[in-house]
Amino acid sequence: MNVLIVGSGGREHAFAWKINQSPKLGNLFVAPGNAGTAEIATNVNLDVTDFEGIAEFSKKEDIELIVVGPEVPLVAGITDFFKNDESLKSIKVIGPDKQGALLEGSKDFSKNFMVKYGVPAAKSQTFNLSTLEDGLKYLESEKAPYVLKADGLAAGKGVIITSDLGEAKSNLKEMLEGKFGDASSNVLIEQHLSGIELSVFVLTDGEDYIILPSAKDYKRIGEGDSGLNTGGMGAVSPVPFADEAFLKKVEEKVVKPTLNGLKSEGIDYTGFIFIGLMNMEGEPYVIEYNVRMGDPETEVVFPRLDADLLEILDLAGQKKLSEANLEIDPRTATTVMLVSGGYPGSYEKGKVMTGFEELEEVIAFHAGTKDGENGDVLTNGGRVIAISALGETMEKALEKSYRGAEKINYDGKYFRKDIGFDLKG
Ligand code: AMP
Ligand code: GLY
Repeated sequence: MNVLIVGSGGREHAFAWKINQSPKLGNLFVAPGNAGTAEIATNVNLDVTDFEGIAEFSKKEDIELIVVGPEVPLVAGITDFFKNDESLKSIKVIGPDKQGALLEGSKDFSKNFMVKYGVPAAKSQTFNLSTLEDGLKYLESEKAPYVLKADGLAAGKGVIITSDLGEAKSNLKEMLEGKFGDASSNVLIEQHLSGIELSVFVLTDGEDYIILPSAKDYKRIGEGDSGLNTGGMGAVSPVPFADEAFLKKVEEKVVKPTLNGLKSEGIDYTGFIFIGLMNMEGEPYVIEYNVRMGDPETEVVFPRLDADLLEILDLAGQKKLSEANLEIDPRTATTVMLVSGGYPGSYEKGKVMTGFEELEEVIAFHAGTKDGENGDVLTNGGRVIAISALGETMEKALEKSYRGAEKINYDGKYFRKDIGFDLKG
């Protein structure tokens, strides 16, 4: 089977790495990919929202299955584009259509969905510029800390949490006046949830589902979870506090009502649902849905799958997920993200990377890299490479990830040295 993966990050490299192990695989392509995917697949120079280009390429190369990595093409309707075209509809696309993608594309939609289907979540109200005064009054009636969320996609930057009422008010005004463009023309003011976060990943074909290993990512740039938010600086799977009893609650109180809700809304959903959860005194609350796998969570979830991922995705595409076999490696997987100096602020690209040949006992998932002209690998993004490893314990896995992180070098390299700090002992 010929497969096309859409995207260019560590997540897409992890998809390519896992799919590449399948005996069912014919040719593997990644659009646009990175220097890591180029080693195991053919990169195709197409933008993730160039649906015409992706469609034309898919016909030319007899692609049977497309995995969509990031949210942007899903929210923009890549799945609808294939479904609604006679000559493309036989190609299985793993990822929801536009309607399903609203679970991530609109936080107002997803909050109403959670309320309607009884999924536990923080209480919230949504405001726009014409109801700004009501929003300001609402803030006054709420307790600190205040959580403001842009309704639309804002590349992970659309959430502001502050304990200062004045700051919350000025942020609400700025957001509604266009701080995040159209994404913040509606803003949710949400009850603050305190607890410990984790992510649970579900693959569904609209009828059946499988729950993948849980993971925890480390979003802040600085140690001890300080400083600005990033795309993710590292991850661990499994999450020790997410024991069987807690995960059973997640399945009963969150996963099942979510999938029932999708069905009741007439949303035919084939793809991943990434559920961001807060564990509050042993009870799960949904912080957000994403309609794709996480990055860097995929880089710790997939190394733990003892399964033919391509076969599972193919079954999902045929609505036969009930036939899928999935074994989970009981070991712990960790990943440490190496980033460019200055990230998540401005940073330089094009730095020569060295040390690949010294890596041992790790899987290096490229995130922002590209091939240079004379065989060098160059940095090409804020997040550069994720060093994943498996170990009998989290400490043993981290030891390997960190040994690998020391081996790779480039000008401006930075990584957090405390991944997993809150999960120890
Ligand atoms: P999101 O973009 O919805 O994932 O939010 C980004 C981060 O903000 C989350 O990972 C949480 O750490 C935090 N966050 C979002 N909503 C809440 C909330 N209601 N209470 C506490 N923290 C939150
Ligand atoms: N690591 C968080 C995300 O993929 O959204």
